[in-house]
Amino acid sequence: MSIARAGVARSKSQIQVSRTGTSAARPLAVSSHPSIKASPAPLPRDQILLGDCVAEINRLPEASIDLVFADPPYNLQLENTLSRPDQSVVDAVDDDWDKFSSFAEYDRFTREWLTAVRRVMKPDATIFVIGSYHNIFRVGTILQDLGFWILNDIVWRKNNPMPNFRGRRFTNAHETMIWASRSAAAKNYTFNYEALKAGNEDCQVRSDWLLPICTGGERLKDENGRKTHPTQKPESLLTRVLLSASNKGDVVLDPFFGSGTTGAVARRLGRSFIGTERDPVYAKAARARIDAVTPLPDNALAIAPTKRSEPRVAFASVVEAGLIAPGAVLTDEKRRHSAVVRADGAIGLGQIVGSIHKMGALAQGLPACNGWTFWHVERDGKLESIDALRSIMRSNMKDAAE
Ligand SMILES: C[S@@+](CC[C@H](N)C(=O)[O-])C[C@H]1O[C@@H](n2cnc3c(N)ncnc32)[C@H](O)[C@@H]1O
Repeated sequence: MSIARAGVARSKSQIQVSRTGTSAARPLAVSSHPSIKASPAPLPRDQILLGDCVAEINRLPEASIDLVFADPPYNLQLENTLSRPDQSVVDAVDDDWDKFSSFAEYDRFTREWLTAVRRVMKPDATIFVIGSYHNIFRVGTILQDLGFWILNDIVWRKNNPMPNFRGRRFTNAHETMIWASRSAAAKNYTFNYEALKAGNEDCQVRSDWLLPICTGGERLKDENGRKTHPTQKPESLLTRVLLSASNKGDVVLDPFFGSGTTGAVARRLGRSFIGTERDPVYAKAARARIDAVTPLPDNALAIAPTKRSEPRVAFASVVEAGLIAPGAVLTDEKRRHSAVVRADGAIGLGQIVGSIHKMGALAQGLPACNGWTFWHVERDGKLESIDALRSIMRSNMKDAAE
């Protein structure tokens, strides 16, 4: 494995070493003449940028990242050695990268990296930040202060957490992940709702995820059998994050790359990654880990198109196409309500006429209704959802386009 200096051509994406290694960022724009535009720096896809995350991210082009996963220092503030009842010492996170002199110092650091990350996010990109009770509330406040828009907080419940050895508190059995869009205005962020639901017994995926911590063969160890990284996250967690909020070919940025869990999962799932990590030992281990991953074949990754991404179909066009005749009677699944199809594609509920959605809502006394799934039509003695007619229309539209 070669380690290349920034700006030097690399044969294969490897670890890039920052020239400064400090947080002093190089200027982003290079042209002073108004008519000459500097061509944007190429995105260092599938590379680990060795150095301070803020300096490295400041070198990336604006609005170039689709998804961010960040596992920042926890600021655990450990004062004493932690031991088990048998006096063995717990391998706690006491590394330098987790030490901050005060909450104010931690907040300053958090504001700095979140500001840098926000600049490189595409308008519809989202960010997941994971943390524990030590830091996640501070991170949440700063996210909101900087203009991010919180979409969910996800509780990662560990089914094999470390016990509370002193018996003075509850077992700390979860971490919290905040999922946020770049701003409240971002409406088209990626959320693979239907694919997730299809893989979950057709139930919506909830915001509490029960997953084991990283152990066994997945845990990176050095030649002496010691953990390479103290806080390696499980690949199952990153898999769910990436499958939920990114698509094949997307670029995922991880500012605190550590052992490269995000990179390994991104490679397996056909996404690109960019990682920043200040510790060369972790970066080297991460590179080797990622290089050993075999990407999944395309047919294991294809996501079924969501209803939202499919073309809109007007009920009038279903009538025009002769898939349902004017005068036909629509009813709901339990045959409690009925409405008559009109030639113009509206439907009549008694004396009131309106769209399939408005009339469905009115019939149920609800503010809104998806008329496609609410209304049915009887065919050969069986009720068939009119959504089936919409699917026929969509498949005809697809055939016509090909
Ligand atoms: C909580 S760990 C991330 C672990 C990672 N998610 C994994 O699965 O291995 C945080 C990492 O951020 C790195 N780090 C801390 N401060 C940094 C900074 N300012 N710039 C770049 N990396 C930093 C640390 O060296 C550490 O590896």
